[in-house]
Amino acid sequence: MAPQTALPQTALSQNVLPETTLDVAFCRRFFPALAGDWVFMENAGGTFVPEQVIERAIHFMATCQVQPGAAYPASAGATERIDAGRQTLAHLINADVDEIVVGPSTTSNVYVLSHALRALLEPGDEVIVTNQDHEANNGAWRRLAEIGVVVKEWRMNGDTDDLEIEDLEALLTEKTRLVCFNHCSNIVGLIHDVKAIVRKVHDAGALACVDGVAYAPHRRIDVKDLDADFYLYSAYKVYGPHIGVLYGKRELLLRAANQNHYFVPEDDFQRKLCPGGLNYELTASAAGVGEYLDKVHAHHFPGANVPGANIGVTERWDRVFGLFAAHEEAMTRPIVDFLASKADVRLIGQGVEGRRERVSIFSFLVNGRDSREIPDRLLQHKIAIRAEDFYAARCIDALGLRERGGVIRVSLVHYNDAADVDRLLGHLDETLSS
Ligand SMILES: Cc1ncc(COP(=O)(O)O)c(C=O)c1O
Repeated sequence: MAPQTALPQTALSQNVLPETTLDVAFCRRFFPALAGDWVFMENAGGTFVPEQVIERAIHFMATCQVQPGAAYPASAGATERIDAGRQTLAHLINADVDEIVVGPSTTSNVYVLSHALRALLEPGDEVIVTNQDHEANNGAWRRLAEIGVVVKEWRMNGDTDDLEIEDLEALLTEKTRLVCFNHCSNIVGLIHDVKAIVRKVHDAGALACVDGVAYAPHRRIDVKDLDADFYLYSAYKVYGPHIGVLYGKRELLLRAANQNHYFVPEDDFQRKLCPGGLNYELTASAAGVGEYLDKVHAHHFPGANVPGANIGVTERWDRVFGLFAAHEEAMTRPIVDFLASKADVRLIGQGVEGRRERVSIFSFLVNGRDSREIPDRLLQHKIAIRAEDFYAARCIDALGLRERGGVIRVSLVHYNDAADVDRLLGHLDETLSS
């Protein structure tokens, strides 16, 4: 099976000076939860937060935990801080702030969106979902069958464990209205060429809804460049609070049906697509993610701080995510090599290793062992990893791994370091041979 397409260019190759490498010790200092002696490698489940996020949540609750939108100082402060949080959440994917909806989670955001789009669909229309995606970008769309929509499944290729674009092509028809897929799977970790897939979907006259949750902690996202119609991520996996973000193209959000009170204006997307409203203190705290990224930028690019340098937020965060990506790629190689060197280990997606870029998520199996055994054994060495289906139940079932206790998953982000990797691989080696 041929690889899907050329590897996407990382922000690194576009924006970062080659001699600059991430000062991980500098980054770690901002994360109070990293101060102990545990190695934390369950980041795909949720990342720790830097002090900037914690301080903003505390400050909001201490000073302005009231209804925003009024003129008195506490309310005005709340409005300002919530707006700043929304602005950061939009900047993280290069969206305009009025094009995002901040909600409780990605699962909840997809659920609401799927209801908002029902009015645009007719019986016989086709929607394509995958058997690789997390259930968040799956079940709500599959339920459109209730209104007569034909739901088709884009299935993983058995040789590559991945979604192949030619298999999607075979499913697209003139009745296809929507294709829902992931930027990378929270199990397989291989990066999809979203731009190329979106182009195919648009050529077929359909819309693309991309789950960027597993991808967002690792690489810079530009929804405009991807041309995605809808794009979702969860801030709690990108060093932020436990909330989710939905981006949609303006004209589509306008056509989506109001899911809130009847008097909410059609062009107030935040309110129309978030019944019950967003969480104030958590949204406000999200601005801390931006402050943290800017601290990392200022530390690594001191020349950019001189008066008049005027480096915009897009460029600053391109550079920071470029540093993150390069650091993560350097940690990826020894892990992949280690897993590949073990005859009784199967790394999911290993067949396309080297041909397709992966984020630092590694799911694997050990012959003859229930997957849950391995994380349990590593606990005594203070290594936090996990085994299960990670709510990508259809993916685990398609891989035939339900009876094995799912996959063992190791997931790293930029604040992991070479010492973490050494400790993981050393103890994994002992565990596998005992
Ligand atoms: C790839 C992916 N999509 C969606 C979700 C669901 O996100 P949320 O918890 O914000 O609903 C997750 C959570 O693990 C995920 O990994």
